Amino acid sequence: MLVAVSGGKDSLALWDVLVALGYQADGLYIKLGIDGGVRYSDQSLEKIEAFIAARPGARLTVVDVPQELGAPIPLAAQLTRRGQGRPCSICGMSRRHIMNRVAHDGGYDVLATGHNLDDEAATLMGNTLSWQVGYLARQHPVLPASDDGLVRKVKPFFRFYERETAAYALVCGIDYVYDECPYAVGATSIYYKGLLNQLEADRPGAKLQFVLSFLRAKEEEGAFAQAASEVTLKRCPKCGQPTANDGECTFCRTWDRVRERLASQTHPQTQMEAR
Ligand code: AMP
Ligand code: FES
Ligand code: ZN
Repeated sequence: MLVAVSGGKDSLALWDVLVALGYQADGLYIKLGIDGGVRYSDQSLEKIEAFIAARPGARLTVVDVPQELGAPIPLAAQLTRRGQGRPCSICGMSRRHIMNRVAHDGGYDVLATGHNLDDEAATLMGNTLSWQVGYLARQHPVLPASDDGLVRKVKPFFRFYERETAAYALVCGIDYVYDECPYAVGATSIYYKGLLNQLEADRPGAKLQFVLSFLRAKEEEGAFAQAASEVTLKRCPKCGQPTANDGECTFCRTWDRVRERLASQTHPQTQMEAR
């Protein structure tokens, strides 16, 4: 299986557990080109490299976004103005695309991520407050592979509180990046996490109950089943990955636009002449 590792506590703890349980688990790190005054991406890779140095046999694939796609994520966000210039939208979309591509092309049967209970509860809260029934229908710790090229995705830590994965990392001597992504400041998911922490302080177990009863309602009572109707995915003619779009997928379109805008900034004269 392939484990997506960010250098944070959850994904490094997950990788450690999977290896200890005897899985052949290889790592994937997506270097996003984020600095934020704390060398965020470089620091994350250093933690991952220290992790594998202590575990001979652990294999890591690194996808370097600025090198492979032409720009670091913050610049790409500015150039496309996707998500009003905030990097999180292009970042999330690109990460999902790269994870699926690397898992699919590498012949991995499963892609595991380190999402914990706090992540899942915050996502659930966001989806519920705006009644995103399509997202609610698809929110699950296990998503099966599809014939059209989506690999199986699992979130083995979805029942664990963030403080539990942090405790595990601490006890096992796993060093990880403490900084949050600098662009996460002010993100709604962090605001929801704060609200859920208040709820948890008053009613211990509330987060776990929120997520587990949601999953039970789906499994036992068919909640949101109607919204789960299969969207037929097509193949992107450029990269071959599954997409709901007619024609090129959102990833290819977005990054083509980034490179076009970069080229026109670098060679404004040539671009003017070409018009
Ligand atoms: P996040 O969306 O940042 O909460 O991360 C959720 C999960 O996605 C992490 O636990 C990792 O498994 C994975 N992930 C996040 N960032 C990266 C990255 N840069 N490279 C690889 N995997 C990542
Ligand atoms: Fe992607 Fe923060 S990790 S914008
Ligand atoms: Zn594509």
